[in-house]
Amino acid sequence: MTLYKKNFLKMLDLSKEEVEEYLRVAALLKDKKRKGEVHDFLRGKNIALIFEKTSTRTRCAFEVAAADLGMHAVYLDPKSSQIGKKESIEDTAKVLGRMFDAIEYRGYGQEIVEALAKYSGVPTFNGLTNESHPTQILADLLTVREHFGKVEGLTLAYYGDARYNMGNSLMVGAAKMGMNFTACCPAKYFPDAALIEKCREIAKETGSVLRFEEDPAKGSVGADVIYTDVWVSMGEPPEVWEKRIADLSPYKVTGAVMARANKGAIFMHCLPAFHDLGTEIGREMKERFGLEDMEVTDEVFLGEQSVVFDEAENRLHTIKAVIACSLVKDGV
Ligand code: CP
Ligand code: NVA
Repeated sequence: MTLYKKNFLKMLDLSKEEVEEYLRVAALLKDKKRKGEVHDFLRGKNIALIFEKTSTRTRCAFEVAAADLGMHAVYLDPKSSQIGKKESIEDTAKVLGRMFDAIEYRGYGQEIVEALAKYSGVPTFNGLTNESHPTQILADLLTVREHFGKVEGLTLAYYGDARYNMGNSLMVGAAKMGMNFTACCPAKYFPDAALIEKCREIAKETGSVLRFEEDPAKGSVGADVIYTDVWVSMGEPPEVWEKRIADLSPYKVTGAVMARANKGAIFMHCLPAFHDLGTEIGREMKERFGLEDMEVTDEVFLGEQSVVFDEAENRLHTIKAVIACSLVKDGV
């Protein structure tokens, strides 16, 4: 098995063995970073980082990973390139493929990142689309494995909008790795039926159990990991907040949700999170709806079971592994 020149576009494209290999390399590179061992084996290579949506973790992880690997990164922000407005994705991909050794894309439809990969001819990495956030899943799996020493056989309960990038990708990642997955939300927020069907097929092979639960009091029972995400994702119109708050408030991760989970359960969130009034949107929702927090309480977010900042750090090590596996010819 080789990951050389491989695109990283969605969890569905990866085998369990490939995920294991990314995690092995991530752990190795994390150790090197901790020890201060130089690992700049991609000197002279260049990566384009296209961000059509905003980012803190993903952008920083790609930039720091590229620098640690000795690469040069060019950041293309949401406004100042020709992409989409004056130049098609196909033409952009052909141009970037002549200049760069790899491309990262964060933006809207999954078909955009797939087209960049197809027409650029260089390894292309998905830094988040509406449908999928695969680099986040690698960081999450590494974090779970560091905490429990394994992934297989554990149960992850996802509270919130399970139809979007995080719910989809966690479900696929869990199914692939033999982890049990529960989506806990109103039925209309369950992932797409066709994707559930694909995951059920995968789960038959790996032994993963997939569950879809509408009762917030039941979702976390038997879970080792409680996971949530924002209720309104980037790119969604602001008008959806009111309905989303009404629909998903019963699925907020609270101390009671954590108390029903297994002993030793952890809390995870891809971040950014609305857990207090420290954000503009958080304060706006307080003014409009009287909310002090949204998808998770401050108590859980800052509590002993929360591993959210380990998870955020692991974005760096896992993204570095994705770049290195794809561009280092003889493997890492
Ligand atoms: N989790 C995540 O992707 O964070 P950013 O939006 O800050 O990149
Ligand atoms: N679902 C969120 C994830 C952010 C990392 C979004 O797409 O905005």
